[in-house]
Amino acid sequence: MGTTEMRTYADEYRRSMEQPEEFWLEASGLVDWITPPTRALDDREAPIYRWYPDGTLNVSANALDRWVAAGRGDQVALAYDSAMTGSKRTFTYAELLHEVSLFAGVLRGRGVQRGDRVAIYLPMTPEAVIAMLACARIGAVHSVIFGGFAANELAVRIQDAEPKVIVTSSGGLEPGRAVEYLPIVEKALAMIVGDRSVTDAVTSSIAVISEDELSVETVIVRDREAVPGNAAEFDGRVGVRWVDWATELERAEPVGAVEVAATDPLYILYTSGTTGTPKGVVRDHGGYAVALAWSMRSIYDIHPGDVMWTASDVGWVVGHSYIVYGPLLAGATTVLYEGKPVGTPDAGAFWRMVEEYGVKVLFSAPTAVRAIRREDPGLEHLRRYDTSTLEALFLAGERLDTETYHWINDALHCPVVDHWWQTETGWAIAANPRGIEPLPVKPGSPTVPVPGYRVAIVDGKGRQVAAGAEGNIVLELPLPPGSLPTLWGGDERYVSSYLTAFPGHYATGDSGYVDEDGYVYVMGRTDDVINVAGHRLSTGGLEEAINHHPAIAEVAVIGVRDELKGQRAAGFVTLKHGTAIDHEVLVKELVALVRETVGPVAAFRDVTVLDRLPKTRSGKILRKTIRQIADGEPYKVPATIEDPTVLTALEAALGR
Ligand code: COA
Ligand code: AMP
Repeated sequence: MGTTEMRTYADEYRRSMEQPEEFWLEASGLVDWITPPTRALDDREAPIYRWYPDGTLNVSANALDRWVAAGRGDQVALAYDSAMTGSKRTFTYAELLHEVSLFAGVLRGRGVQRGDRVAIYLPMTPEAVIAMLACARIGAVHSVIFGGFAANELAVRIQDAEPKVIVTSSGGLEPGRAVEYLPIVEKALAMIVGDRSVTDAVTSSIAVISEDELSVETVIVRDREAVPGNAAEFDGRVGVRWVDWATELERAEPVGAVEVAATDPLYILYTSGTTGTPKGVVRDHGGYAVALAWSMRSIYDIHPGDVMWTASDVGWVVGHSYIVYGPLLAGATTVLYEGKPVGTPDAGAFWRMVEEYGVKVLFSAPTAVRAIRREDPGLEHLRRYDTSTLEALFLAGERLDTETYHWINDALHCPVVDHWWQTETGWAIAANPRGIEPLPVKPGSPTVPVPGYRVAIVDGKGRQVAAGAEGNIVLELPLPPGSLPTLWGGDERYVSSYLTAFPGHYATGDSGYVDEDGYVYVMGRTDDVINVAGHRLSTGGLEEAINHHPAIAEVAVIGVRDELKGQRAAGFVTLKHGTAIDHEVLVKELVALVRETVGPVAAFRDVTVLDRLPKTRSGKILRKTIRQIADGEPYKVPATIEDPTVLTALEAALGR
């Protein structure tokens, strides 16, 4: 690969399009292989593609052993800072390698073999990073589940991934409350095995099985002083062993990195689709390692010894790629922050962290910037800290509105970089490739397609639209390394979910346009996925939870505009005939129900009770019209509407 100074974006992009095989074989040199690949792309089973079909490697060895061997053993690999407890801890590369090797030994001791799944349900503590890398070390497939999800979401994921072991902790800490994980894990398992002594909750998304059929054998619990609950209290419940992390470690022997095929699955990460059943995005070892290593230098401009802080959560793809794997594959220092941008203790948290850890690149979500702006509009806190090490603030996860962009970009001494991607791709589809060549910024645009991605805008029939015209954003196949090769549970669902609507292309589910200069603009989703504070949620999943309330006849959940979170979920419900329930009570019960089943992260609070939902004559709920009315936008009465007076009633209910 040429030196940074000599590369231009145009050249790199052209090469990735015209000579993809050479381009990605060359990029594979950024990774240490056990058997170096002789080929980049395997297209024999198109539209299912694999990268580096004959390569073998170990990702944890690339993230740890490699840097110790290169003399970076004493460099900080992981800096942990908990604003929730005030505790801080650093791990050098040598120390992290030791911890990961030992925990790999714990997993082995519990019967985890190459290819077995391990569910990880942990808060933002070092154990999350250690558990993930330990899985990678022995070729086990991790599936991290975000701590803000409740029992039902956990159960659905456990049932789909069939893990042998669950790694968890007594809990997480949110401002003002502890989130106890163990009762949630127990409830999830009880839902799967139909243990009525623990929970009555049964949902249509879970097929009850017997305890003998349950894949989970052991739950490993990391005890946290700040949160009640430990393994001993739960041991034996729902037919599984609950064991203590620390006790297990004392008995464990360190384990070396095993050789795995580049095409083996490294992890499964569930993401919301149109239905309530989440999709298990599969990530491979080889393609992902190469793509991340390439992105670290070409997009983020992060090199060995640099400090990157991604203020996300390990439960999201951003956390997988840029808290855990990316920075460590680059020999950099990664920062793990347990806390919020505001309120823990104040809106200066981000700037304190930058000063304290000498952060070069900070990666966060627009919603966090809006939260800071609301608390500290004059950025008084920024002036209290020396943030001179910061060279760029990267944002992703939702659309970066131009107002937020200008506000933060004007105040900081360094550029703010919007970039667009999704759980499925694993890394940016469109970005400003700062590590190659910083391009001029156009506010409202995440800049240009990243080398490897062929972005096209098509109409509903798959025809390319003119520059500047909005349409469905699709990616021409094959997707570059790092992007999902398939979904867990089979290629069929992958093909039908993403590759069928526009043959030869991957449908991103986003709409937008590309301007005359090739800049991409992402405007919103074309499906029923909503984005609340950078968290991706399925309206179908929320509807399923609400439908379980005995008073509800019909429900539509819509994403409405929210000043802080971008969008928030609003429920529109009708009641079963003859139901007499106080509306205030109903709203409280529905909010509690969503919190209990989907989780607090849904931040569900808005319920509107209607006599009827607006529908077409064929019975389809007019979601777009409901959203337009809720957002106070002008709208057209759809020609297919069954009864236009329903809209008048909706307007009245919303006080429009
Ligand atoms: N475990 C348990 N509960 C969680 C949780 C977790 N890991 N994360 C969030 N929650 C809870 C919150 O406590 C809150 O509960 P509450 O209703 O009792 O207050 C609820 O879920 C909603 O959380 P959130 O949407 O995060 O709102 P917030 O008010 O706590 O904070 C922001 C608002 C903007 C500060 C916050 O959303 C934020 O930092 N967002 C960054 C988004 C991000 O990193 N996205 C990842 C993609 S890059
Ligand atoms: P997730 O899979 O949770 O990362 O969510 C991905 C979705 O978030 C994308 O499909 C977009 O809808 C949205 N998104 C992420 N980043 C951006 C961005 N920079 N601009 C606009 N939308 C974004």
